[in-house]
Amino acid sequence: MTSSPGAPEFADSYLVEVLTEFGLALKYVRARGNTLYYLADDGTEVGVFDAASGFGSLMFGHNNPEIVEHAKWLLDQQTPVHAQFSGYSFALNLAAELNAVIRRELQTDDKFFALFGNSGAEAVEISIKHAEMDRGARIAELKAEIDTHVEQARTAVADGARLSADAAALVGGADFDLLAAEVARRNAQTEARPPLFLALEGGFHGKLVSSVQLTHNAEFRGPFKALAAQARFIPRDRPELIAKVVEDERATLLDVTVQDGVVDLVERDFPVFAAFLIEPIMGEAGIFPLSAQLAGALREACDTIGVPLISDEIQSGMGRSGTFLAGTQIGLKPDYIILAKALGGGVAKLGVVLVNEHRYRKDIELIHTSTYGRDGFSSRLALKVLQMLEAEDGKAYQLAAERGAKAKAMMEAIKADYPDVVREVRGVGLMLGFELHDQSNSSSPEIREAVEHEALAFIIGGHLLRKHQIRIFSTASNLETMRFEPSIYLSDEEIARVDAGFRDICQILRDQDASRFE
Ligand code: F0G
Repeated sequence: MTSSPGAPEFADSYLVEVLTEFGLALKYVRARGNTLYYLADDGTEVGVFDAASGFGSLMFGHNNPEIVEHAKWLLDQQTPVHAQFSGYSFALNLAAELNAVIRRELQTDDKFFALFGNSGAEAVEISIKHAEMDRGARIAELKAEIDTHVEQARTAVADGARLSADAAALVGGADFDLLAAEVARRNAQTEARPPLFLALEGGFHGKLVSSVQLTHNAEFRGPFKALAAQARFIPRDRPELIAKVVEDERATLLDVTVQDGVVDLVERDFPVFAAFLIEPIMGEAGIFPLSAQLAGALREACDTIGVPLISDEIQSGMGRSGTFLAGTQIGLKPDYIILAKALGGGVAKLGVVLVNEHRYRKDIELIHTSTYGRDGFSSRLALKVLQMLEAEDGKAYQLAAERGAKAKAMMEAIKADYPDVVREVRGVGLMLGFELHDQSNSSSPEIREAVEHEALAFIIGGHLLRKHQIRIFSTASNLETMRFEPSIYLSDEEIARVDAGFRDICQILRDQDASRFE
């Protein structure tokens, strides 16, 4: 068996070409804790501090010994990985444990029903399907009411009621059957419209067919626009725009009333929107924690529109922020919660949507399935991860908060020394963003050109990798922001290494001397 990654002859050839240009294509052969090891040209292993940490999947680091031990044990136990359609599964244990943690944090006795998938984007897609079933039920309720009203009006007309001038004008005559047919025709047209979603500008919710349409970045979303339902995006600092967007998109169904022997028409609001998706700490946007004020405004807006508020905690959840859910710290009250990434302990692939019982549509259990969804191995491993998070009175959460605060203080100190280079330090716990000032007006032609080609972030990443053995990336939608999401085992030595690396970058940018980039 080979122990070294292969050649990009049959896959990733273009990706490898692009990464090679910036010295970012490396052959990682081993990973442990916060360190990834690659093979240097002379065959020796070089350790790299991994601040990307599986894009936030590694709360407990690479190949955590306790998790690895448990994974081996699960296989030795002959855990049934596949036992689909048997009703009982280890996913039920996981759902119970998730409920215990979530109900404590949200301070509620409400139940949250779990629906499982294989990845973050897949869990988002499950939430989209569930929200659409919810909307379908709201539409059906409204239609049933209208049908009843039409039949009541038909009886009233048989008993001598007449059509109002408006109603008669709609069909060019006082014929009730024509009116009923026209109401049905118009309503069918409105019902056939695809749903709309609400999401925040800069938000990221995955890259599958539907979820990518809720991901704001036009580069990811644009080419696939025709494939799925669309979102209307709201700037996170302008919640007052929600009402305007809802008004702009308003659609109505026609209903009939009978009053004093007159059949008239009224408009009923049609459920245009299916859900509002948000991230409590926006990751790909550039690490922007939402405010408590916005959390309140979002809850209120969703109640007004009648849609579920879906909190995508795929990146921010599982303790990374210092609490199990990042939303807890801003008092967010979501209807659905989505988790993935760190849920599988960096080893298993698993995503879950937790739906509040008051909005749960149980029919989905029979019509949404996936071969590996909620498999025994991943479910039991995720249970272990939850136990590790909750152990010793939530020591892991405390570590995330304490280590994160220490790393943030390091970055703040750099900002104080380099206010001309560092724009802002943001984030909570171990989800931090280090934002540099835009360099598009740099006095160095090389730096200006790099910005123009969206290459500066790669150049900085390559420099930190080669010179400082730090693996870190900018966020995809904010190229000036480097995101820092290591495991809770972040050491003082690793913080010192990042301190030195970031200061080196700041000095190069202050001196506008691109020749020093390695
Ligand atoms: N939602 C959020 C908030 C995410 O950060 C991601 C992934 C997803 C959904 C999709 O999850 O990759 O398991 O399908 N974010 C990665 C990132 C890609 O770069 O932060 P997935």
